[in-house]
Amino acid sequence: MSASTTSLDSNASYNYSIVRRFTLMTLFWGILGMGMGVFIAAQLVWPELNLGLPWTSFGRIRPIHTNLVIFAFGGGALFATSLYVVQRTSRVRLVSDRLANFVFWGWQAAVVAMLAGYPLGITTSKEYAEMEWPIALWVTIVWIAYAYLFFATIARRKVKHIYVGNWFYGAFIIVTAMVHVVNHIAMPVSLLKSYPVYSGATDAMIQWWYGHSVVGFILSVGFLGMMYYFVPKQAGRPIYSYRLSIVHFWTIIALYIWAGPHHLHYTALPDWAQSLGMVMSVILLAPSWGGMINGMMTLSGAWHKLRTDPILRFLVVSLAFYGMSTFEGPMMAIKTVNSLSHYTDWTIGHVHAGALGWVAMISIGTLYHMIPRLYGREQMYSVGLINAHFWLATIGTVLYIASMWVNGITQGLMWRAINDDGTLTYSFVEALVASHPGYIVRLIGGATFASGMLLMAWNAWQTMRAGERVEHAPIPAAA
Ligand code: HEM
Ligand code: HEM
Repeated sequence: MSASTTSLDSNASYNYSIVRRFTLMTLFWGILGMGMGVFIAAQLVWPELNLGLPWTSFGRIRPIHTNLVIFAFGGGALFATSLYVVQRTSRVRLVSDRLANFVFWGWQAAVVAMLAGYPLGITTSKEYAEMEWPIALWVTIVWIAYAYLFFATIARRKVKHIYVGNWFYGAFIIVTAMVHVVNHIAMPVSLLKSYPVYSGATDAMIQWWYGHSVVGFILSVGFLGMMYYFVPKQAGRPIYSYRLSIVHFWTIIALYIWAGPHHLHYTALPDWAQSLGMVMSVILLAPSWGGMINGMMTLSGAWHKLRTDPILRFLVVSLAFYGMSTFEGPMMAIKTVNSLSHYTDWTIGHVHAGALGWVAMISIGTLYHMIPRLYGREQMYSVGLINAHFWLATIGTVLYIASMWVNGITQGLMWRAINDDGTLTYSFVEALVASHPGYIVRLIGGATFASGMLLMAWNAWQTMRAGERVEHAPIPAAA
């Protein structure tokens, strides 16, 4: 630990210690979560890998994958970056180091509890909301502490305006709290089992209002906050249009919350609700692309930097995948398109265009930006390795999503094909056999992506070894 950095007056310095710890855990959970992804992808190629045990079956490992990558990896990246950005843009230290530590340990404890419970079958069985009531309650407490830490720091800021990135992080914090609490209201029947207070179509609607808000406010709005700080920083240019960023903010938060019914097309949900969800989803294309264009255009006059800076390449390609998945999503929300895509691997392809291409790639670029700063280094140990990682991530993502598109459309067409006499042309098993090559390609793509994460871990380790931990960083005098 560097004496020069630790001896700083803590009121005149940023708390980097909390950012560093969240950064390390993001890396750790990311590797574990993606490793689980590779494992379940392999189970879909070789079902014997279920090992004939309940704990290792696909159905129990899958939520471990989704919870790890969304809440531990994605969430970790959002904690690390929001606490970094809020300090730096407010030019003030976090209001409380103790509370920051509580948020860190509280969140890790929640992740470990989820990890321990799912293999044992302790689950609400609601997607992305599988945590049973004691964990859900604990997460609420930790989240309130996080919200206080973030907003109270903003309240004490030394600059007049609130940087737009913080608006996005703030919306992510508030809306996640709201949908988490509403969707988890349940009647406990024992310490480890509860039943939702809602039933039937209402329960489904609340669940997908929550589910889509996880996509919208964690995987989109939260990461857009990250984009608004780290893309300009890495490009060394101001954001293309500050006005567009404000319009982007208000339109995206006004629309996302209405799009949930597109997960419930052709179900018992009232038809008007399905149509409303469809229309809102299609309109959502506009603010999504507004934000994507704002990020991309920030590089005007700095495009040449892409040739030499693989971190910037990660950030820009993540925006391209964001644009792609937010074009695809509104299309899939159109009821006639959804009648083909729903239940098929097309959805899985769309998910990972967003998850790998956007969420993981922007997080990786951002972590590469932050790690040297957290260890008092000019740059990462090896830029060549970042470049290799970039290509592994890009090729891995493309293999993953292309194979799932082919599978999805094949499955959709085979399921709906009928003979002249009205009987089905193909059995379900025939569609499954036709999907097998796609599962192999997806496994190769996923393993390629995950291997890049191992390169990153090694590069980060070498950077840390060569550097010194920065616990407190001096706050520069106001401009
Ligand atoms: C304008 C933006 C977007 C729209 C309108 C949209 C729309 C959709 C639609 C229609 C589905 C399929 C629902 C179904 O048939 O079951 C879906 C699934 C999904 N999307 Fe998106 N999407 C958007 C952006 C994104 C982004 C950026 C991500 C980031 C990772 C994402 C993650 C997901 C996930 C995780 C699912 C699967 C949910 C599940 O069934 O478990 N989406 N989306
Ligand atoms: C090495 C990388 C990854 C691999 C190999 C992988 C693999 C998989 C597999 C095999 C499934 C189950 C698909 C099915 O049920 O048919 C899945 C589901 C899912 N994964 Fe991943 N994944 C990876 C990375 C990620 C990342 C980084 C995220 C999020 C940030 C993510 C989010 C999800 C989500 C939300 C689902 C559920 C989709 C749905 O229900 O529609 N994955 N993944």
